[in-house]
Amino acid sequence: MERKVALITGVTGQDGSFLSEFLLEKGYEVHGIIRRSSVDFRERIAHLEGKPHFHLHYADMGDSMSLVKLVGIVQPSEIYNLAAQSHVQVSFDSPEFTADVDAVGVLRILEAVRTNHLEQSCKIYQASTSELYGKVEEVPQNENTPFHPYSPYAVAKLYGFWIIKEYREAYNMFCCSGILFNHESERRGETFVTRKITLAAARIAQGKQEKLLLGNLDSLRDWGYAKDYVECMWLILQHETPEDFVIATGVQHSVREFTDLAFRHVGIELRFEGEGINEKGICAKGPEHLIGKTLVEVSKDFYRPTDVVNLWGDPTKAKAKLGWNPAKTSFEQLVELMVKHDMAKVAGEGAAAKVRMNLAEYLEKGVVK
Ligand code: NAP
Ligand code: GDD
Repeated sequence: MERKVALITGVTGQDGSFLSEFLLEKGYEVHGIIRRSSVDFRERIAHLEGKPHFHLHYADMGDSMSLVKLVGIVQPSEIYNLAAQSHVQVSFDSPEFTADVDAVGVLRILEAVRTNHLEQSCKIYQASTSELYGKVEEVPQNENTPFHPYSPYAVAKLYGFWIIKEYREAYNMFCCSGILFNHESERRGETFVTRKITLAAARIAQGKQEKLLLGNLDSLRDWGYAKDYVECMWLILQHETPEDFVIATGVQHSVREFTDLAFRHVGIELRFEGEGINEKGICAKGPEHLIGKTLVEVSKDFYRPTDVVNLWGDPTKAKAKLGWNPAKTSFEQLVELMVKHDMAKVAGEGAAAKVRMNLAEYLEKGVVK
């Protein structure tokens, strides 16, 4: 049997790396798009490079010509469009770049497929997002909940959602959006809140960081495990008809709860005191030298101009139509696996890494959010 051919944009990202593994396992020929970088090390896919059915190509979501050329060469049967400027806070700092990649980039992919006359043979998955619900109009959110995007990132992704729907109807293309709620993992970028917390908990426990600065602790998210979610991307493209699906666990927790649990996993019990910007997480139980110390502080640097505070997904449709199991990895298991990973990572970091970490902390306070 001939191998199916998948093209993944965003292959170096959290989801791209898990999806590559998943599709290779299924016997696909996997092609991924990479951008030229001055540091030529792709951490999340380094273990796949050199495998016979895994191929990387230079292209960019901002460069139509590169995309048209590549789609022509690869002749994919499935495209997974995961590439994006995916950080919500950064979209306030770089709104035009975000719009170019996250909105117009989707159009470029669709047109690359049409230009190569593949519109009837190539299925397209678009990485859509729960951020579309933004300033939420109902809880929990399902496929019929109205959108109310609340950041430049979400507004750009809204264009992506609608242009996918438009091409599906106008040109009868098999293109769909997965409206994915937050999904995390040991490969999550280090400035997203979950990973920032698990790394900080590990560093504080090992005496390599003093405290953790966070923004809105009351923010609520429906957090799942990224490895479970990439299966759904594939299932959406195997469904008999092109449809959009909400992918979520159906369980909601706050940033404070995530923090509390992550610290428990490194042997520290926190007591939260104060409110809003004055709230602190103080070590109530744990290593002697930490007792009574403030380990978590709120900083206005990590508040957003507009923040999405109540995401909670209803995965009923995905369960019923795709047979997907939203409860495969629980919130508790997710936090545990991330903390375990980061405890080992931090323990393996030498003196050079300590210098880098201090720089990272310094940057986080002023520049990198
Ligand atoms: P991620 O780790 O930030 O990865 C983003 C990927 O996009 C990286 O491979 C990045 O390449 C690539 N990229 C960015 N700009 C590009 C450009 N101009 N040209 C080519 N590639 C470019 O994101 P993720 O968490 O895996 O998320 C995957 C997708 O799902 C994104 O579209 C995100 O918006 C969406 N999403 C994520 C979640 C979530 O909770 N993770 C939820 C809903 C939707 P470099 O490595 O070169 O930077
Ligand atoms: N990043 C960050 N850093 N967020 C913080 C912090 C902090 O120090 N403190 C509190 N938060 C709050 C944010 O204000 C937000 O309400 C919540 O924690 C989650 O923030 P992120 O982890 O940065 O994720 P996100 O929800 O904004 O965006 C992620 O999920 C979306 C799906 O809902 C990204 O992966 C997006 O690409 C994705 O579309």
